[in-house]
Amino acid sequence: MQVIKTIDKLRPIVKAWKKEGLRVGLVPTMGYLHEGHKSLIVRAVSENDKVVVSDFVNPTQFGAGEDLASYPRDIDRDAAICEQAGADLIFHPEPEEMYFTDNCTFVDMDGLTKGLCGKTRPTHFRGVCTVVSKLFHIVAPDRAYFGQKDAQQLAVIRRMARDLNFDIEIVGCPIVREADGLAMSSRNTYLNDAERKAALILHKSLMLGKEMIEQGEHDASQIKKAIISNIESEPLAKVDYVEIVNPDTMENIDTVEDLALIATAVYIGKTRLIDNVM
Ligand code: PAJ
Repeated sequence: MQVIKTIDKLRPIVKAWKKEGLRVGLVPTMGYLHEGHKSLIVRAVSENDKVVVSDFVNPTQFGAGEDLASYPRDIDRDAAICEQAGADLIFHPEPEEMYFTDNCTFVDMDGLTKGLCGKTRPTHFRGVCTVVSKLFHIVAPDRAYFGQKDAQQLAVIRRMARDLNFDIEIVGCPIVREADGLAMSSRNTYLNDAERKAALILHKSLMLGKEMIEQGEHDASQIKKAIISNIESEPLAKVDYVEIVNPDTMENIDTVEDLALIATAVYIGKTRLIDNVM
């Protein structure tokens, strides 16, 4: 498995694969890989002839005061995980390789980027759409793999691929959790022992909401209220949002009748974690 750092070196490799008629899968990541990322890579390996993993902490999706500088990075460890999962190539560019200093072109989206994470991170999805578009152009994969862990991101990428006519199949993959229910995330490394225990409140509260629906509660405001008070029972937790939305449009649902997404973002100490359940 190769680690490639430049677009000029990557493109001929992928072109040669395509010439042979091979199907190419792309797994975009920001690195510091865990079992959640690995599940995407394994799935991509099982469905394609060649798999590219991009490993790039994308500056344009971080807001001022967010964790761009401290975001964990370890390319050697990532390379070992990718190799083990059966990937063929890691694309690991420097920021200067991805963005010209006078870059002034961005891909932005209205509608489904405005709520949920878009409220506290107003420029986040512009950065995500821009870098994913660039990766789609650079790698030109047949399929690209994204986790349900970032449910709003998955919906945004599906919509972007449709609206901008990317000839790429977007594959959504289930959330991988720790044994105790915490959704795996590179940001879990920020948590100290007490915070790690407190972080369980996200999944527990979402499961409470799911149970309420299964027991016949349809009023979204009642379900949200119960989830919020459950999260707030944990002293280290502070709710950013709890929303119940249509999983494709991210529009709020008042009465739960059909498939609904319950999504939450919670600060555990200084660390902002997200989780969701269908
Ligand atoms: P990152 O947070 O590294 O996540 C890369 C991919 O792994 C995303 O599609 C994410 O949803 C998925 N993922 C993360 N944790 C997961 C888990 N516990 N179970 C299943 N999948 C999981 O998301 C990004 O990077 C960036 O925004 C990116 C799309 C790469 C653009 O920069």
